[in-house]
Amino acid sequence: MRNASLFVKACLAQPVDHIPVWLMRQAGRYLPEYRKIRERHPFLTVCKTPDLATEVTLQPLERFGMDAAILFSDILLVLEAMGVDLVFDEKKGPRLGRSGTAEEQVQSLSIPDPEEDLRCVLEAIRQIRASLQEGIALIGFSGAPFTLATYLIEGGTSRDFYATKCFMYQQPAAFHRLMEKLVSALEPFLKAQIGAGVDAVQLFDTWAIILSPVDYREFVLPHMQRLVAALKGEGVPTIHFSLGASTLLEAMDEIGVDVLSLDWKIDIGGARERLGAGRPVQGNLDPFALFQSAEKLEESVLKILDKGSRWPGYIFNLGHGVHRKTPMENVRRLVEIVHAYPIRSQR
Ligand code: CP3
Repeated sequence: MRNASLFVKACLAQPVDHIPVWLMRQAGRYLPEYRKIRERHPFLTVCKTPDLATEVTLQPLERFGMDAAILFSDILLVLEAMGVDLVFDEKKGPRLGRSGTAEEQVQSLSIPDPEEDLRCVLEAIRQIRASLQEGIALIGFSGAPFTLATYLIEGGTSRDFYATKCFMYQQPAAFHRLMEKLVSALEPFLKAQIGAGVDAVQLFDTWAIILSPVDYREFVLPHMQRLVAALKGEGVPTIHFSLGASTLLEAMDEIGVDVLSLDWKIDIGGARERLGAGRPVQGNLDPFALFQSAEKLEESVLKILDKGSRWPGYIFNLGHGVHRKTPMENVRRLVEIVHAYPIRSQR
């Protein structure tokens, strides 16, 4: 492992002198300095302009001192590089467009060359790496194949995932081909991010929560295993995120990643018992817990720390991204509480 940052040590269950903390969506609309940049530039322009992506990535660290930065980008950029039209509507969120049946769409997706087609992302990583304080980790990421498939098939965010589930159940072979194609695109992209300097990679599988454990094992797990196995020799820890730990914990444990993220609906102590002491985890504060009073917030954070950090291999995070109306003072408090927390004797 090239960077023995506190964060990377925790990912590998090595001893640390305080618990590392970072937050999903730590750069975003709850920060006035982010909103200022967004007044002048559309979201995708920020993602695709290395100077802007670097500036925005570093904003929360300058303000709050998290232990890791996450590359400012979006999971949907890789789909654009595969030939799908992508726009972000201020009100409706992302819209993805492509003509033809789902099967025809799968056929026509191309496998991007990261150094050509996603060069702006790699350039941002190189710039962030060069400006990042020593000891602070940089997290790269991609969407996981299933979550990317839902955006592709639905053309955006969905309430019931009707089109995805119909495609999956009615044309299973074509669905598996799509998942394979996505893995073929993600593997070189993640390897290129590692080559450009990230210290860990996180795979975002937000919508795996919509599947039963049986369907998850049939339609998703083998593809995740293939992707993660291909990243094994790359020398950086892999992190899995989804909203589904409460229903899919054991299946997700079989993916083979170094760190599993826990959403807020599962008791972190119980989850760590079920996974076994050797399995590092991150999470699992409800993002809306940041809307409580300072005292209540401290109580919520300490409860998670007490249960979550009983064994080595714990990273404090939310169970999902920071909400855009989050009071900044509570983000500051949260980081301070985690950093002040004394490491008890970890078993
Ligand atoms: O965590 C970070 O700070 C790193 C950057 C990052 C963003 N999106 C920035 C972003 C990461 C890792 C993502 C991942 C992502 N993007 C996911 C998986 C995680 C999750 O939130 O479940 C998903 C599903 C997307 C797709 C996406 N991007 C949607 C549905 C939306 C619109 C909804 C929203 O929250 O605005 C986005 C936009 C987006 N991605 C914003 C940011 C900061 C908001 C853009 C803005 O208006 O400025």
